[in-house]
Amino acid sequence: EAVMRRILVTGGAGFIGSNFVRMVLCEHPDCLIVNLDKLTYAGNLGNLAEFLEHENHKFVKGDICDGALVGRIIDEYEIEAVVNFAAESHVDRSITGPKVFVETNITGTLTLLEAARDKKLERFVQISTDEVYGALGPEGKFTEQTALSPNSPYSASKAAADHLVRAFGHTWGVKYNITRCSNNYGPYQFPEKLIPLMINNALNDRELPVYGDGLYVRDWLYVYDHCTAIWRVLQNAPPGEIYNIGGCNEKANLEVINLILSRLGKPKSLIRHVTDRPGHDRRYAIDAGKIMGELGWKPSLSFEQGINKTIDWYLNNQDWLRNVVSGDYQSYYESMYANR
Ligand code: NAD
Ligand code: DAU
Repeated sequence: EAVMRRILVTGGAGFIGSNFVRMVLCEHPDCLIVNLDKLTYAGNLGNLAEFLEHENHKFVKGDICDGALVGRIIDEYEIEAVVNFAAESHVDRSITGPKVFVETNITGTLTLLEAARDKKLERFVQISTDEVYGALGPEGKFTEQTALSPNSPYSASKAAADHLVRAFGHTWGVKYNITRCSNNYGPYQFPEKLIPLMINNALNDRELPVYGDGLYVRDWLYVYDHCTAIWRVLQNAPPGEIYNIGGCNEKANLEVINLILSRLGKPKSLIRHVTDRPGHDRRYAIDAGKIMGELGWKPSLSFEQGINKTIDWYLNNQDWLRNVVSGDYQSYYESMYANR
């Protein structure tokens, strides 16, 4: 049984947000979701096609920087809690154009925090990232005590937002939690991120652009398991607590890419090493002991199971994929990867 039942989800038309909205509507019928999303290039109502008329889902197109709109939504729907997924989320885009990251990720979070304070909400859950901790060498894992040391404009904007959340808790008693998750993968991920980009290129017999030596390590978590962790935090965590979330699935990029190629029956000759990402973080790894021990969360799928489900999903949803790569995607791809 949910404690927080009237929930404002921001960014619920994006990858993780739409998976969270779907999980709540399917598994927690006593909850109302109001979904505020600006529908940027990364937001897509097709991610929630079968839920647009659902009686417990109200979609509002709008910007989290619009304080008047946020205030009206909270009043009209008697919102109890905010879960803030809305963000600019892609590291490479933050290198070519950082300003919108400051606007949405920092000013947007500030706007939501002011509303949470003024409307005396029961909870504010900030969906942050392990990237705020910076990069690891070959050993060790990020814990909640690791100092913040963000390396990209994206992660710097997310770290700034985390500091604001904490400051609103300290200064005005806003009841918050922060979650810091490792790399997600699964259905509805936009094909600018590693796994869906490689699946899409391989399906089309296009080259697979591997940054640098391809030995960068990420700790992969299936998106549904991230969503169940967020749900536990929202419903069960004491206010003021921060939780790392991760899958204990460290993989080098080339391992992931080789697995995708073999599942799709495509040759390794598609791999092409290209110029590295500036400031590329070598390795991320999460110690998820706190959320496992205190809230009893654990991931439901191994990487093997999750990647198989994900590849099957993209194979069975090629209309979705064709739709998201139509329009602006082609020019994005060319500007990001030409002459690299
Ligand atoms: P995404 O880019 O797929 O989706 C972001 C959503 O936010 C889109 O629907 C977009 O339209 C919306 N949005 C952007 N700017 C907005 C604004 N100003 N107002 C309202 N809506 C706006 O992102 P994602 O991968 O689903 O990530 C969601 C959150 O999770 C982000 O906060 C990200 O930092 C965090 N996160 C992501 C990962 C990952 O691996 N993808 C891991 C850890 C944390
Ligand atoms: O760790 C959590 C973070 O994971 C989230 O906060 C971010 O929102 C999310 O985008 C993700 O960041 P990464 O930079 O780790 O993800 P990305 O998919 O962009 O890259 C994963 C790895 O793959 C990284 O080492 C860069 C490499 N890569 C990526 C692309 C897009 C390539 O080698 N080639 C590519 O074309």
